[in-house]
Amino acid sequence: MPNAIETFHLRKEYSSVIAVEDLSLVVPAGCFFGFLGPNGSGKSTTIACLTGLLDATRGETRLLGQPFHADAIDLKRRIGVMPETLGLFDALYAHEFLSFQGRMYGLDKETTRRRGTELLEALDLANQGRTPLSEFSTGMRKRVAFAAAMIHGPEILFLDEPFESIDPDGVGMMKQWLRQFASRGGTIFMTSHVLETVERLCDRVAIITRPGALVWEGDISALAADGAIAANGRQFRTLEELFLAVAGRRYAPALEWL
Ligand SMILES: Nc1ncnc2c1ncn2[C@@H]1O[C@H](COP(=O)(O)OP(=O)(O)O)[C@@H](O)[C@H]1O
Ligand SMILES: [Mg+2]
Repeated sequence: MPNAIETFHLRKEYSSVIAVEDLSLVVPAGCFFGFLGPNGSGKSTTIACLTGLLDATRGETRLLGQPFHADAIDLKRRIGVMPETLGLFDALYAHEFLSFQGRMYGLDKETTRRRGTELLEALDLANQGRTPLSEFSTGMRKRVAFAAAMIHGPEILFLDEPFESIDPDGVGMMKQWLRQFASRGGTIFMTSHVLETVERLCDRVAIITRPGALVWEGDISALAADGAIAANGRQFRTLEELFLAVAGRRYAPALEWL
């Protein structure tokens, strides 16, 4: 089976900022991959470049074994994305947006309707049929974006901070679906600052620091199995300890006026 995601020497410059300098990553098919890093380290930019939402300045990306670029429409149909910006159309109702999304990704009308209804009911949004997305709360908007990323049954799911702003009940449901998706061979590329959750869900993680520089990458299954992981010649009991060791600033300066 080809790797799900491969990116070589990815670079993204905004007008005055290098957001990602030179990132190479390989994510095997069927992997639940955690993409971690401090604020501003280039995670969202990387996801946007890997999914065609932004043009990379340089570098090559292959998805599902095929070269990926902004015009690779057939390949785009095989991925689902929950971007940082969510990508909702605010004037639409949730069910309209999911219909649009399902049809755009190639589902027939009946399947789109059935899955849309099922998702909105499960996500407790079924009674919001007369509320435009512009009037949804942040957590409700995230739920819709999550549903939109999944509705067409993609082979790879890209999720940028999927759990942020979602209540515990919603997070629990999303985690169950993600586990099911992964157990059936789907690949997940997810950013999250909730390291306990990453530790429980993910098979592998990459940790980057600004600007998109890989500082650690590896299998973390030993954390769940043995309660510890060996990395950089040391033992870590949690992913948080490992994260702080490779990407943290370690101490907070005393604020005299506080
Ligand atoms: N649209 C933009 N224009 C200019 N700079 C940006 C833009 N988006 C992100 N950046 C910059 O790129 C860097 C990486 O940002 P981002 O990818 O959002 O990081 P993360 O998702 O890890 O928090 C930051 O320095 C940020 O200020
Ligand atoms: Mg981000």
